[in-house]
Amino acid sequence: MSQIQPKLIIHGGAGSSLKGKGGLVAVRQSLHGIVEEVYQMLLNGASATEAVIKGCQLLENEPRFNAGTGSVLQSDGQIRMSASLMDGTSQRFSGVINVSRVQNPINLAEYLQQQEDRVLSDYGSAELLRELKLPIYDPLTDLRLHEWIDERKDNFSRKMAGVVSEDEMLSSEARRGTIGVVALDNQGCIAAGTSTGGKGLEKIGRVSDSAMPAGNYATKNAGVSCTGIGEDIIDECLAAKIVIRVGDGFSLREAIAKSMQEAYDNKRDLGAISLDANGTIAWGKTSEILLAAYHNGREIGDTLEWSNEELSGSC
Ligand code: GLY
Repeated sequence: MSQIQPKLIIHGGAGSSLKGKGGLVAVRQSLHGIVEEVYQMLLNGASATEAVIKGCQLLENEPRFNAGTGSVLQSDGQIRMSASLMDGTSQRFSGVINVSRVQNPINLAEYLQQQEDRVLSDYGSAELLRELKLPIYDPLTDLRLHEWIDERKDNFSRKMAGVVSEDEMLSSEARRGTIGVVALDNQGCIAAGTSTGGKGLEKIGRVSDSAMPAGNYATKNAGVSCTGIGEDIIDECLAAKIVIRVGDGFSLREAIAKSMQEAYDNKRDLGAISLDANGTIAWGKTSEILLAAYHNGREIGDTLEWSNEELSGSC
């Protein structure tokens, strides 16, 4: 089989406007650094699944993003994270829902790819951690704790934690948002991974889209990772809808454009990154900003200053 040029797109969330320039610069630096590292792996022959796992680990380890270290706290002050992985070639989905005390939730999704039971919720995820003897890890950061304490002072007046930082004082650390990675490897295989700390301040037991096919989906044709308000993503069944449209004959650009128009008409707050087997990279959002970066085989680019006029873009 002749080799295909690898493609990669990652995101660190979507949400309201990113104000401080320090935030923009810091986010760009982090996303571009991760794209560079993971794209190099793809050039060296890593599979799409390996690249997605590595990309998710790096994003989970970056405290500015709301996944792994730096995850937001839920209403009871606990961190519960969700992550999923989908291998487009085998069309297998795996994931964990509301797991605590682990550094990289995506590693659990990786392990579950080969298992008969492939999606575990809180209790099962905790048992799996024990079974795999993974070290106990506290993903809490001071910043997240202080945000939560501030929310308590306001008697939880906000419905959810901000998706990206807008605080001037914190602008160099724009830090919130689901993370996700979609990759096409040199064999033409696609994989998608998504990981999140949730939307922040949610009720105990609330389930994110990130460990559902609504938020993360891939086939041999295309892969999608979503970000934004989980309930909106679930209501649109966004990732699966885009990928299935591609399988039914839409181009990726058409599938993203139609799906984003529907989401916009339904007043959703979300974003998605994607790529297809032809190497097209595309993204879309109804939120004000999408923190995504990609490598298209020639160069690294991003969507950080992308205008609000279009619901979708591609390269
Ligand atoms: N999209 C992440 C969440 O709402 O949980």
